[in-house]
Amino acid sequence: MNVNWKVLFPYELIEANWRLWSFIAILGVGFWALTAFPVAQIAGYVDPFYSPTILIVPLPGAFRLTCYAYRKDYHRHLFEHPLGCSNADRGDSAARKYTGERNAVFQLENLHRYFMYAGLAILPFFYYDFAYSLVYSGSFVLRIGSLILLANALLLTAWTFSCHAVRHIVGGNIDCYSCVAAGGARKAVYDRQSWLNSHHEALAWISLLTIIFTDLYLRGLTAGLPIDHTLLRL
Ligand code: FES
Repeated sequence: MNVNWKVLFPYELIEANWRLWSFIAILGVGFWALTAFPVAQIAGYVDPFYSPTILIVPLPGAFRLTCYAYRKDYHRHLFEHPLGCSNADRGDSAARKYTGERNAVFQLENLHRYFMYAGLAILPFFYYDFAYSLVYSGSFVLRIGSLILLANALLLTAWTFSCHAVRHIVGGNIDCYSCVAAGGARKAVYDRQSWLNSHHEALAWISLLTIIFTDLYLRGLTAGLPIDHTLLRL
């Protein structure tokens, strides 16, 4: 039997793109860990990855994956294509010349403006989970875990509202503010959003870390670590 092992196991391709495959492996293991070892609820806290349900995680996940902040990083440092935005010398090899955002990957990434609605829709659930955590064992309690849930919700909100697609909606699509209804108010909103947008990259990374930290905190509680403390009980 003549088996073409290179087709079954394309090790040359994997060797050439080891960073890409590592990235895919990390994503795969992470998704498997989330689904195989769920901590949907512990001590009145809801894990952010399960809010409202793991079933819709792919939509906010796609929103995050196609975020401009990460796109810049994985295109430049992981795919090494395109290497930069300058029109002059991009440093791309002749074989991988940048020809604009026309291939399938770029087209998929441009769905970001639609994934943004999923990102906006899921935000209230994080605040609901914070409020839900305040009532535990029949009384009102403020615990460290609740503050972590709140910080996570606020950072996710700041990241979502600083999105470039949001910027386009609130005012980036207007050429002349004085020519449209409530132009002054829209310009004011646009200016505030622009300030938030200037911190978008930092917010993207910080909010990613806080959502992971929140999940790890709840996993720590599930494992029995004595890390949660009650600050106020009424
Ligand atoms: Fe980053 Fe939209 S560009 S969330």
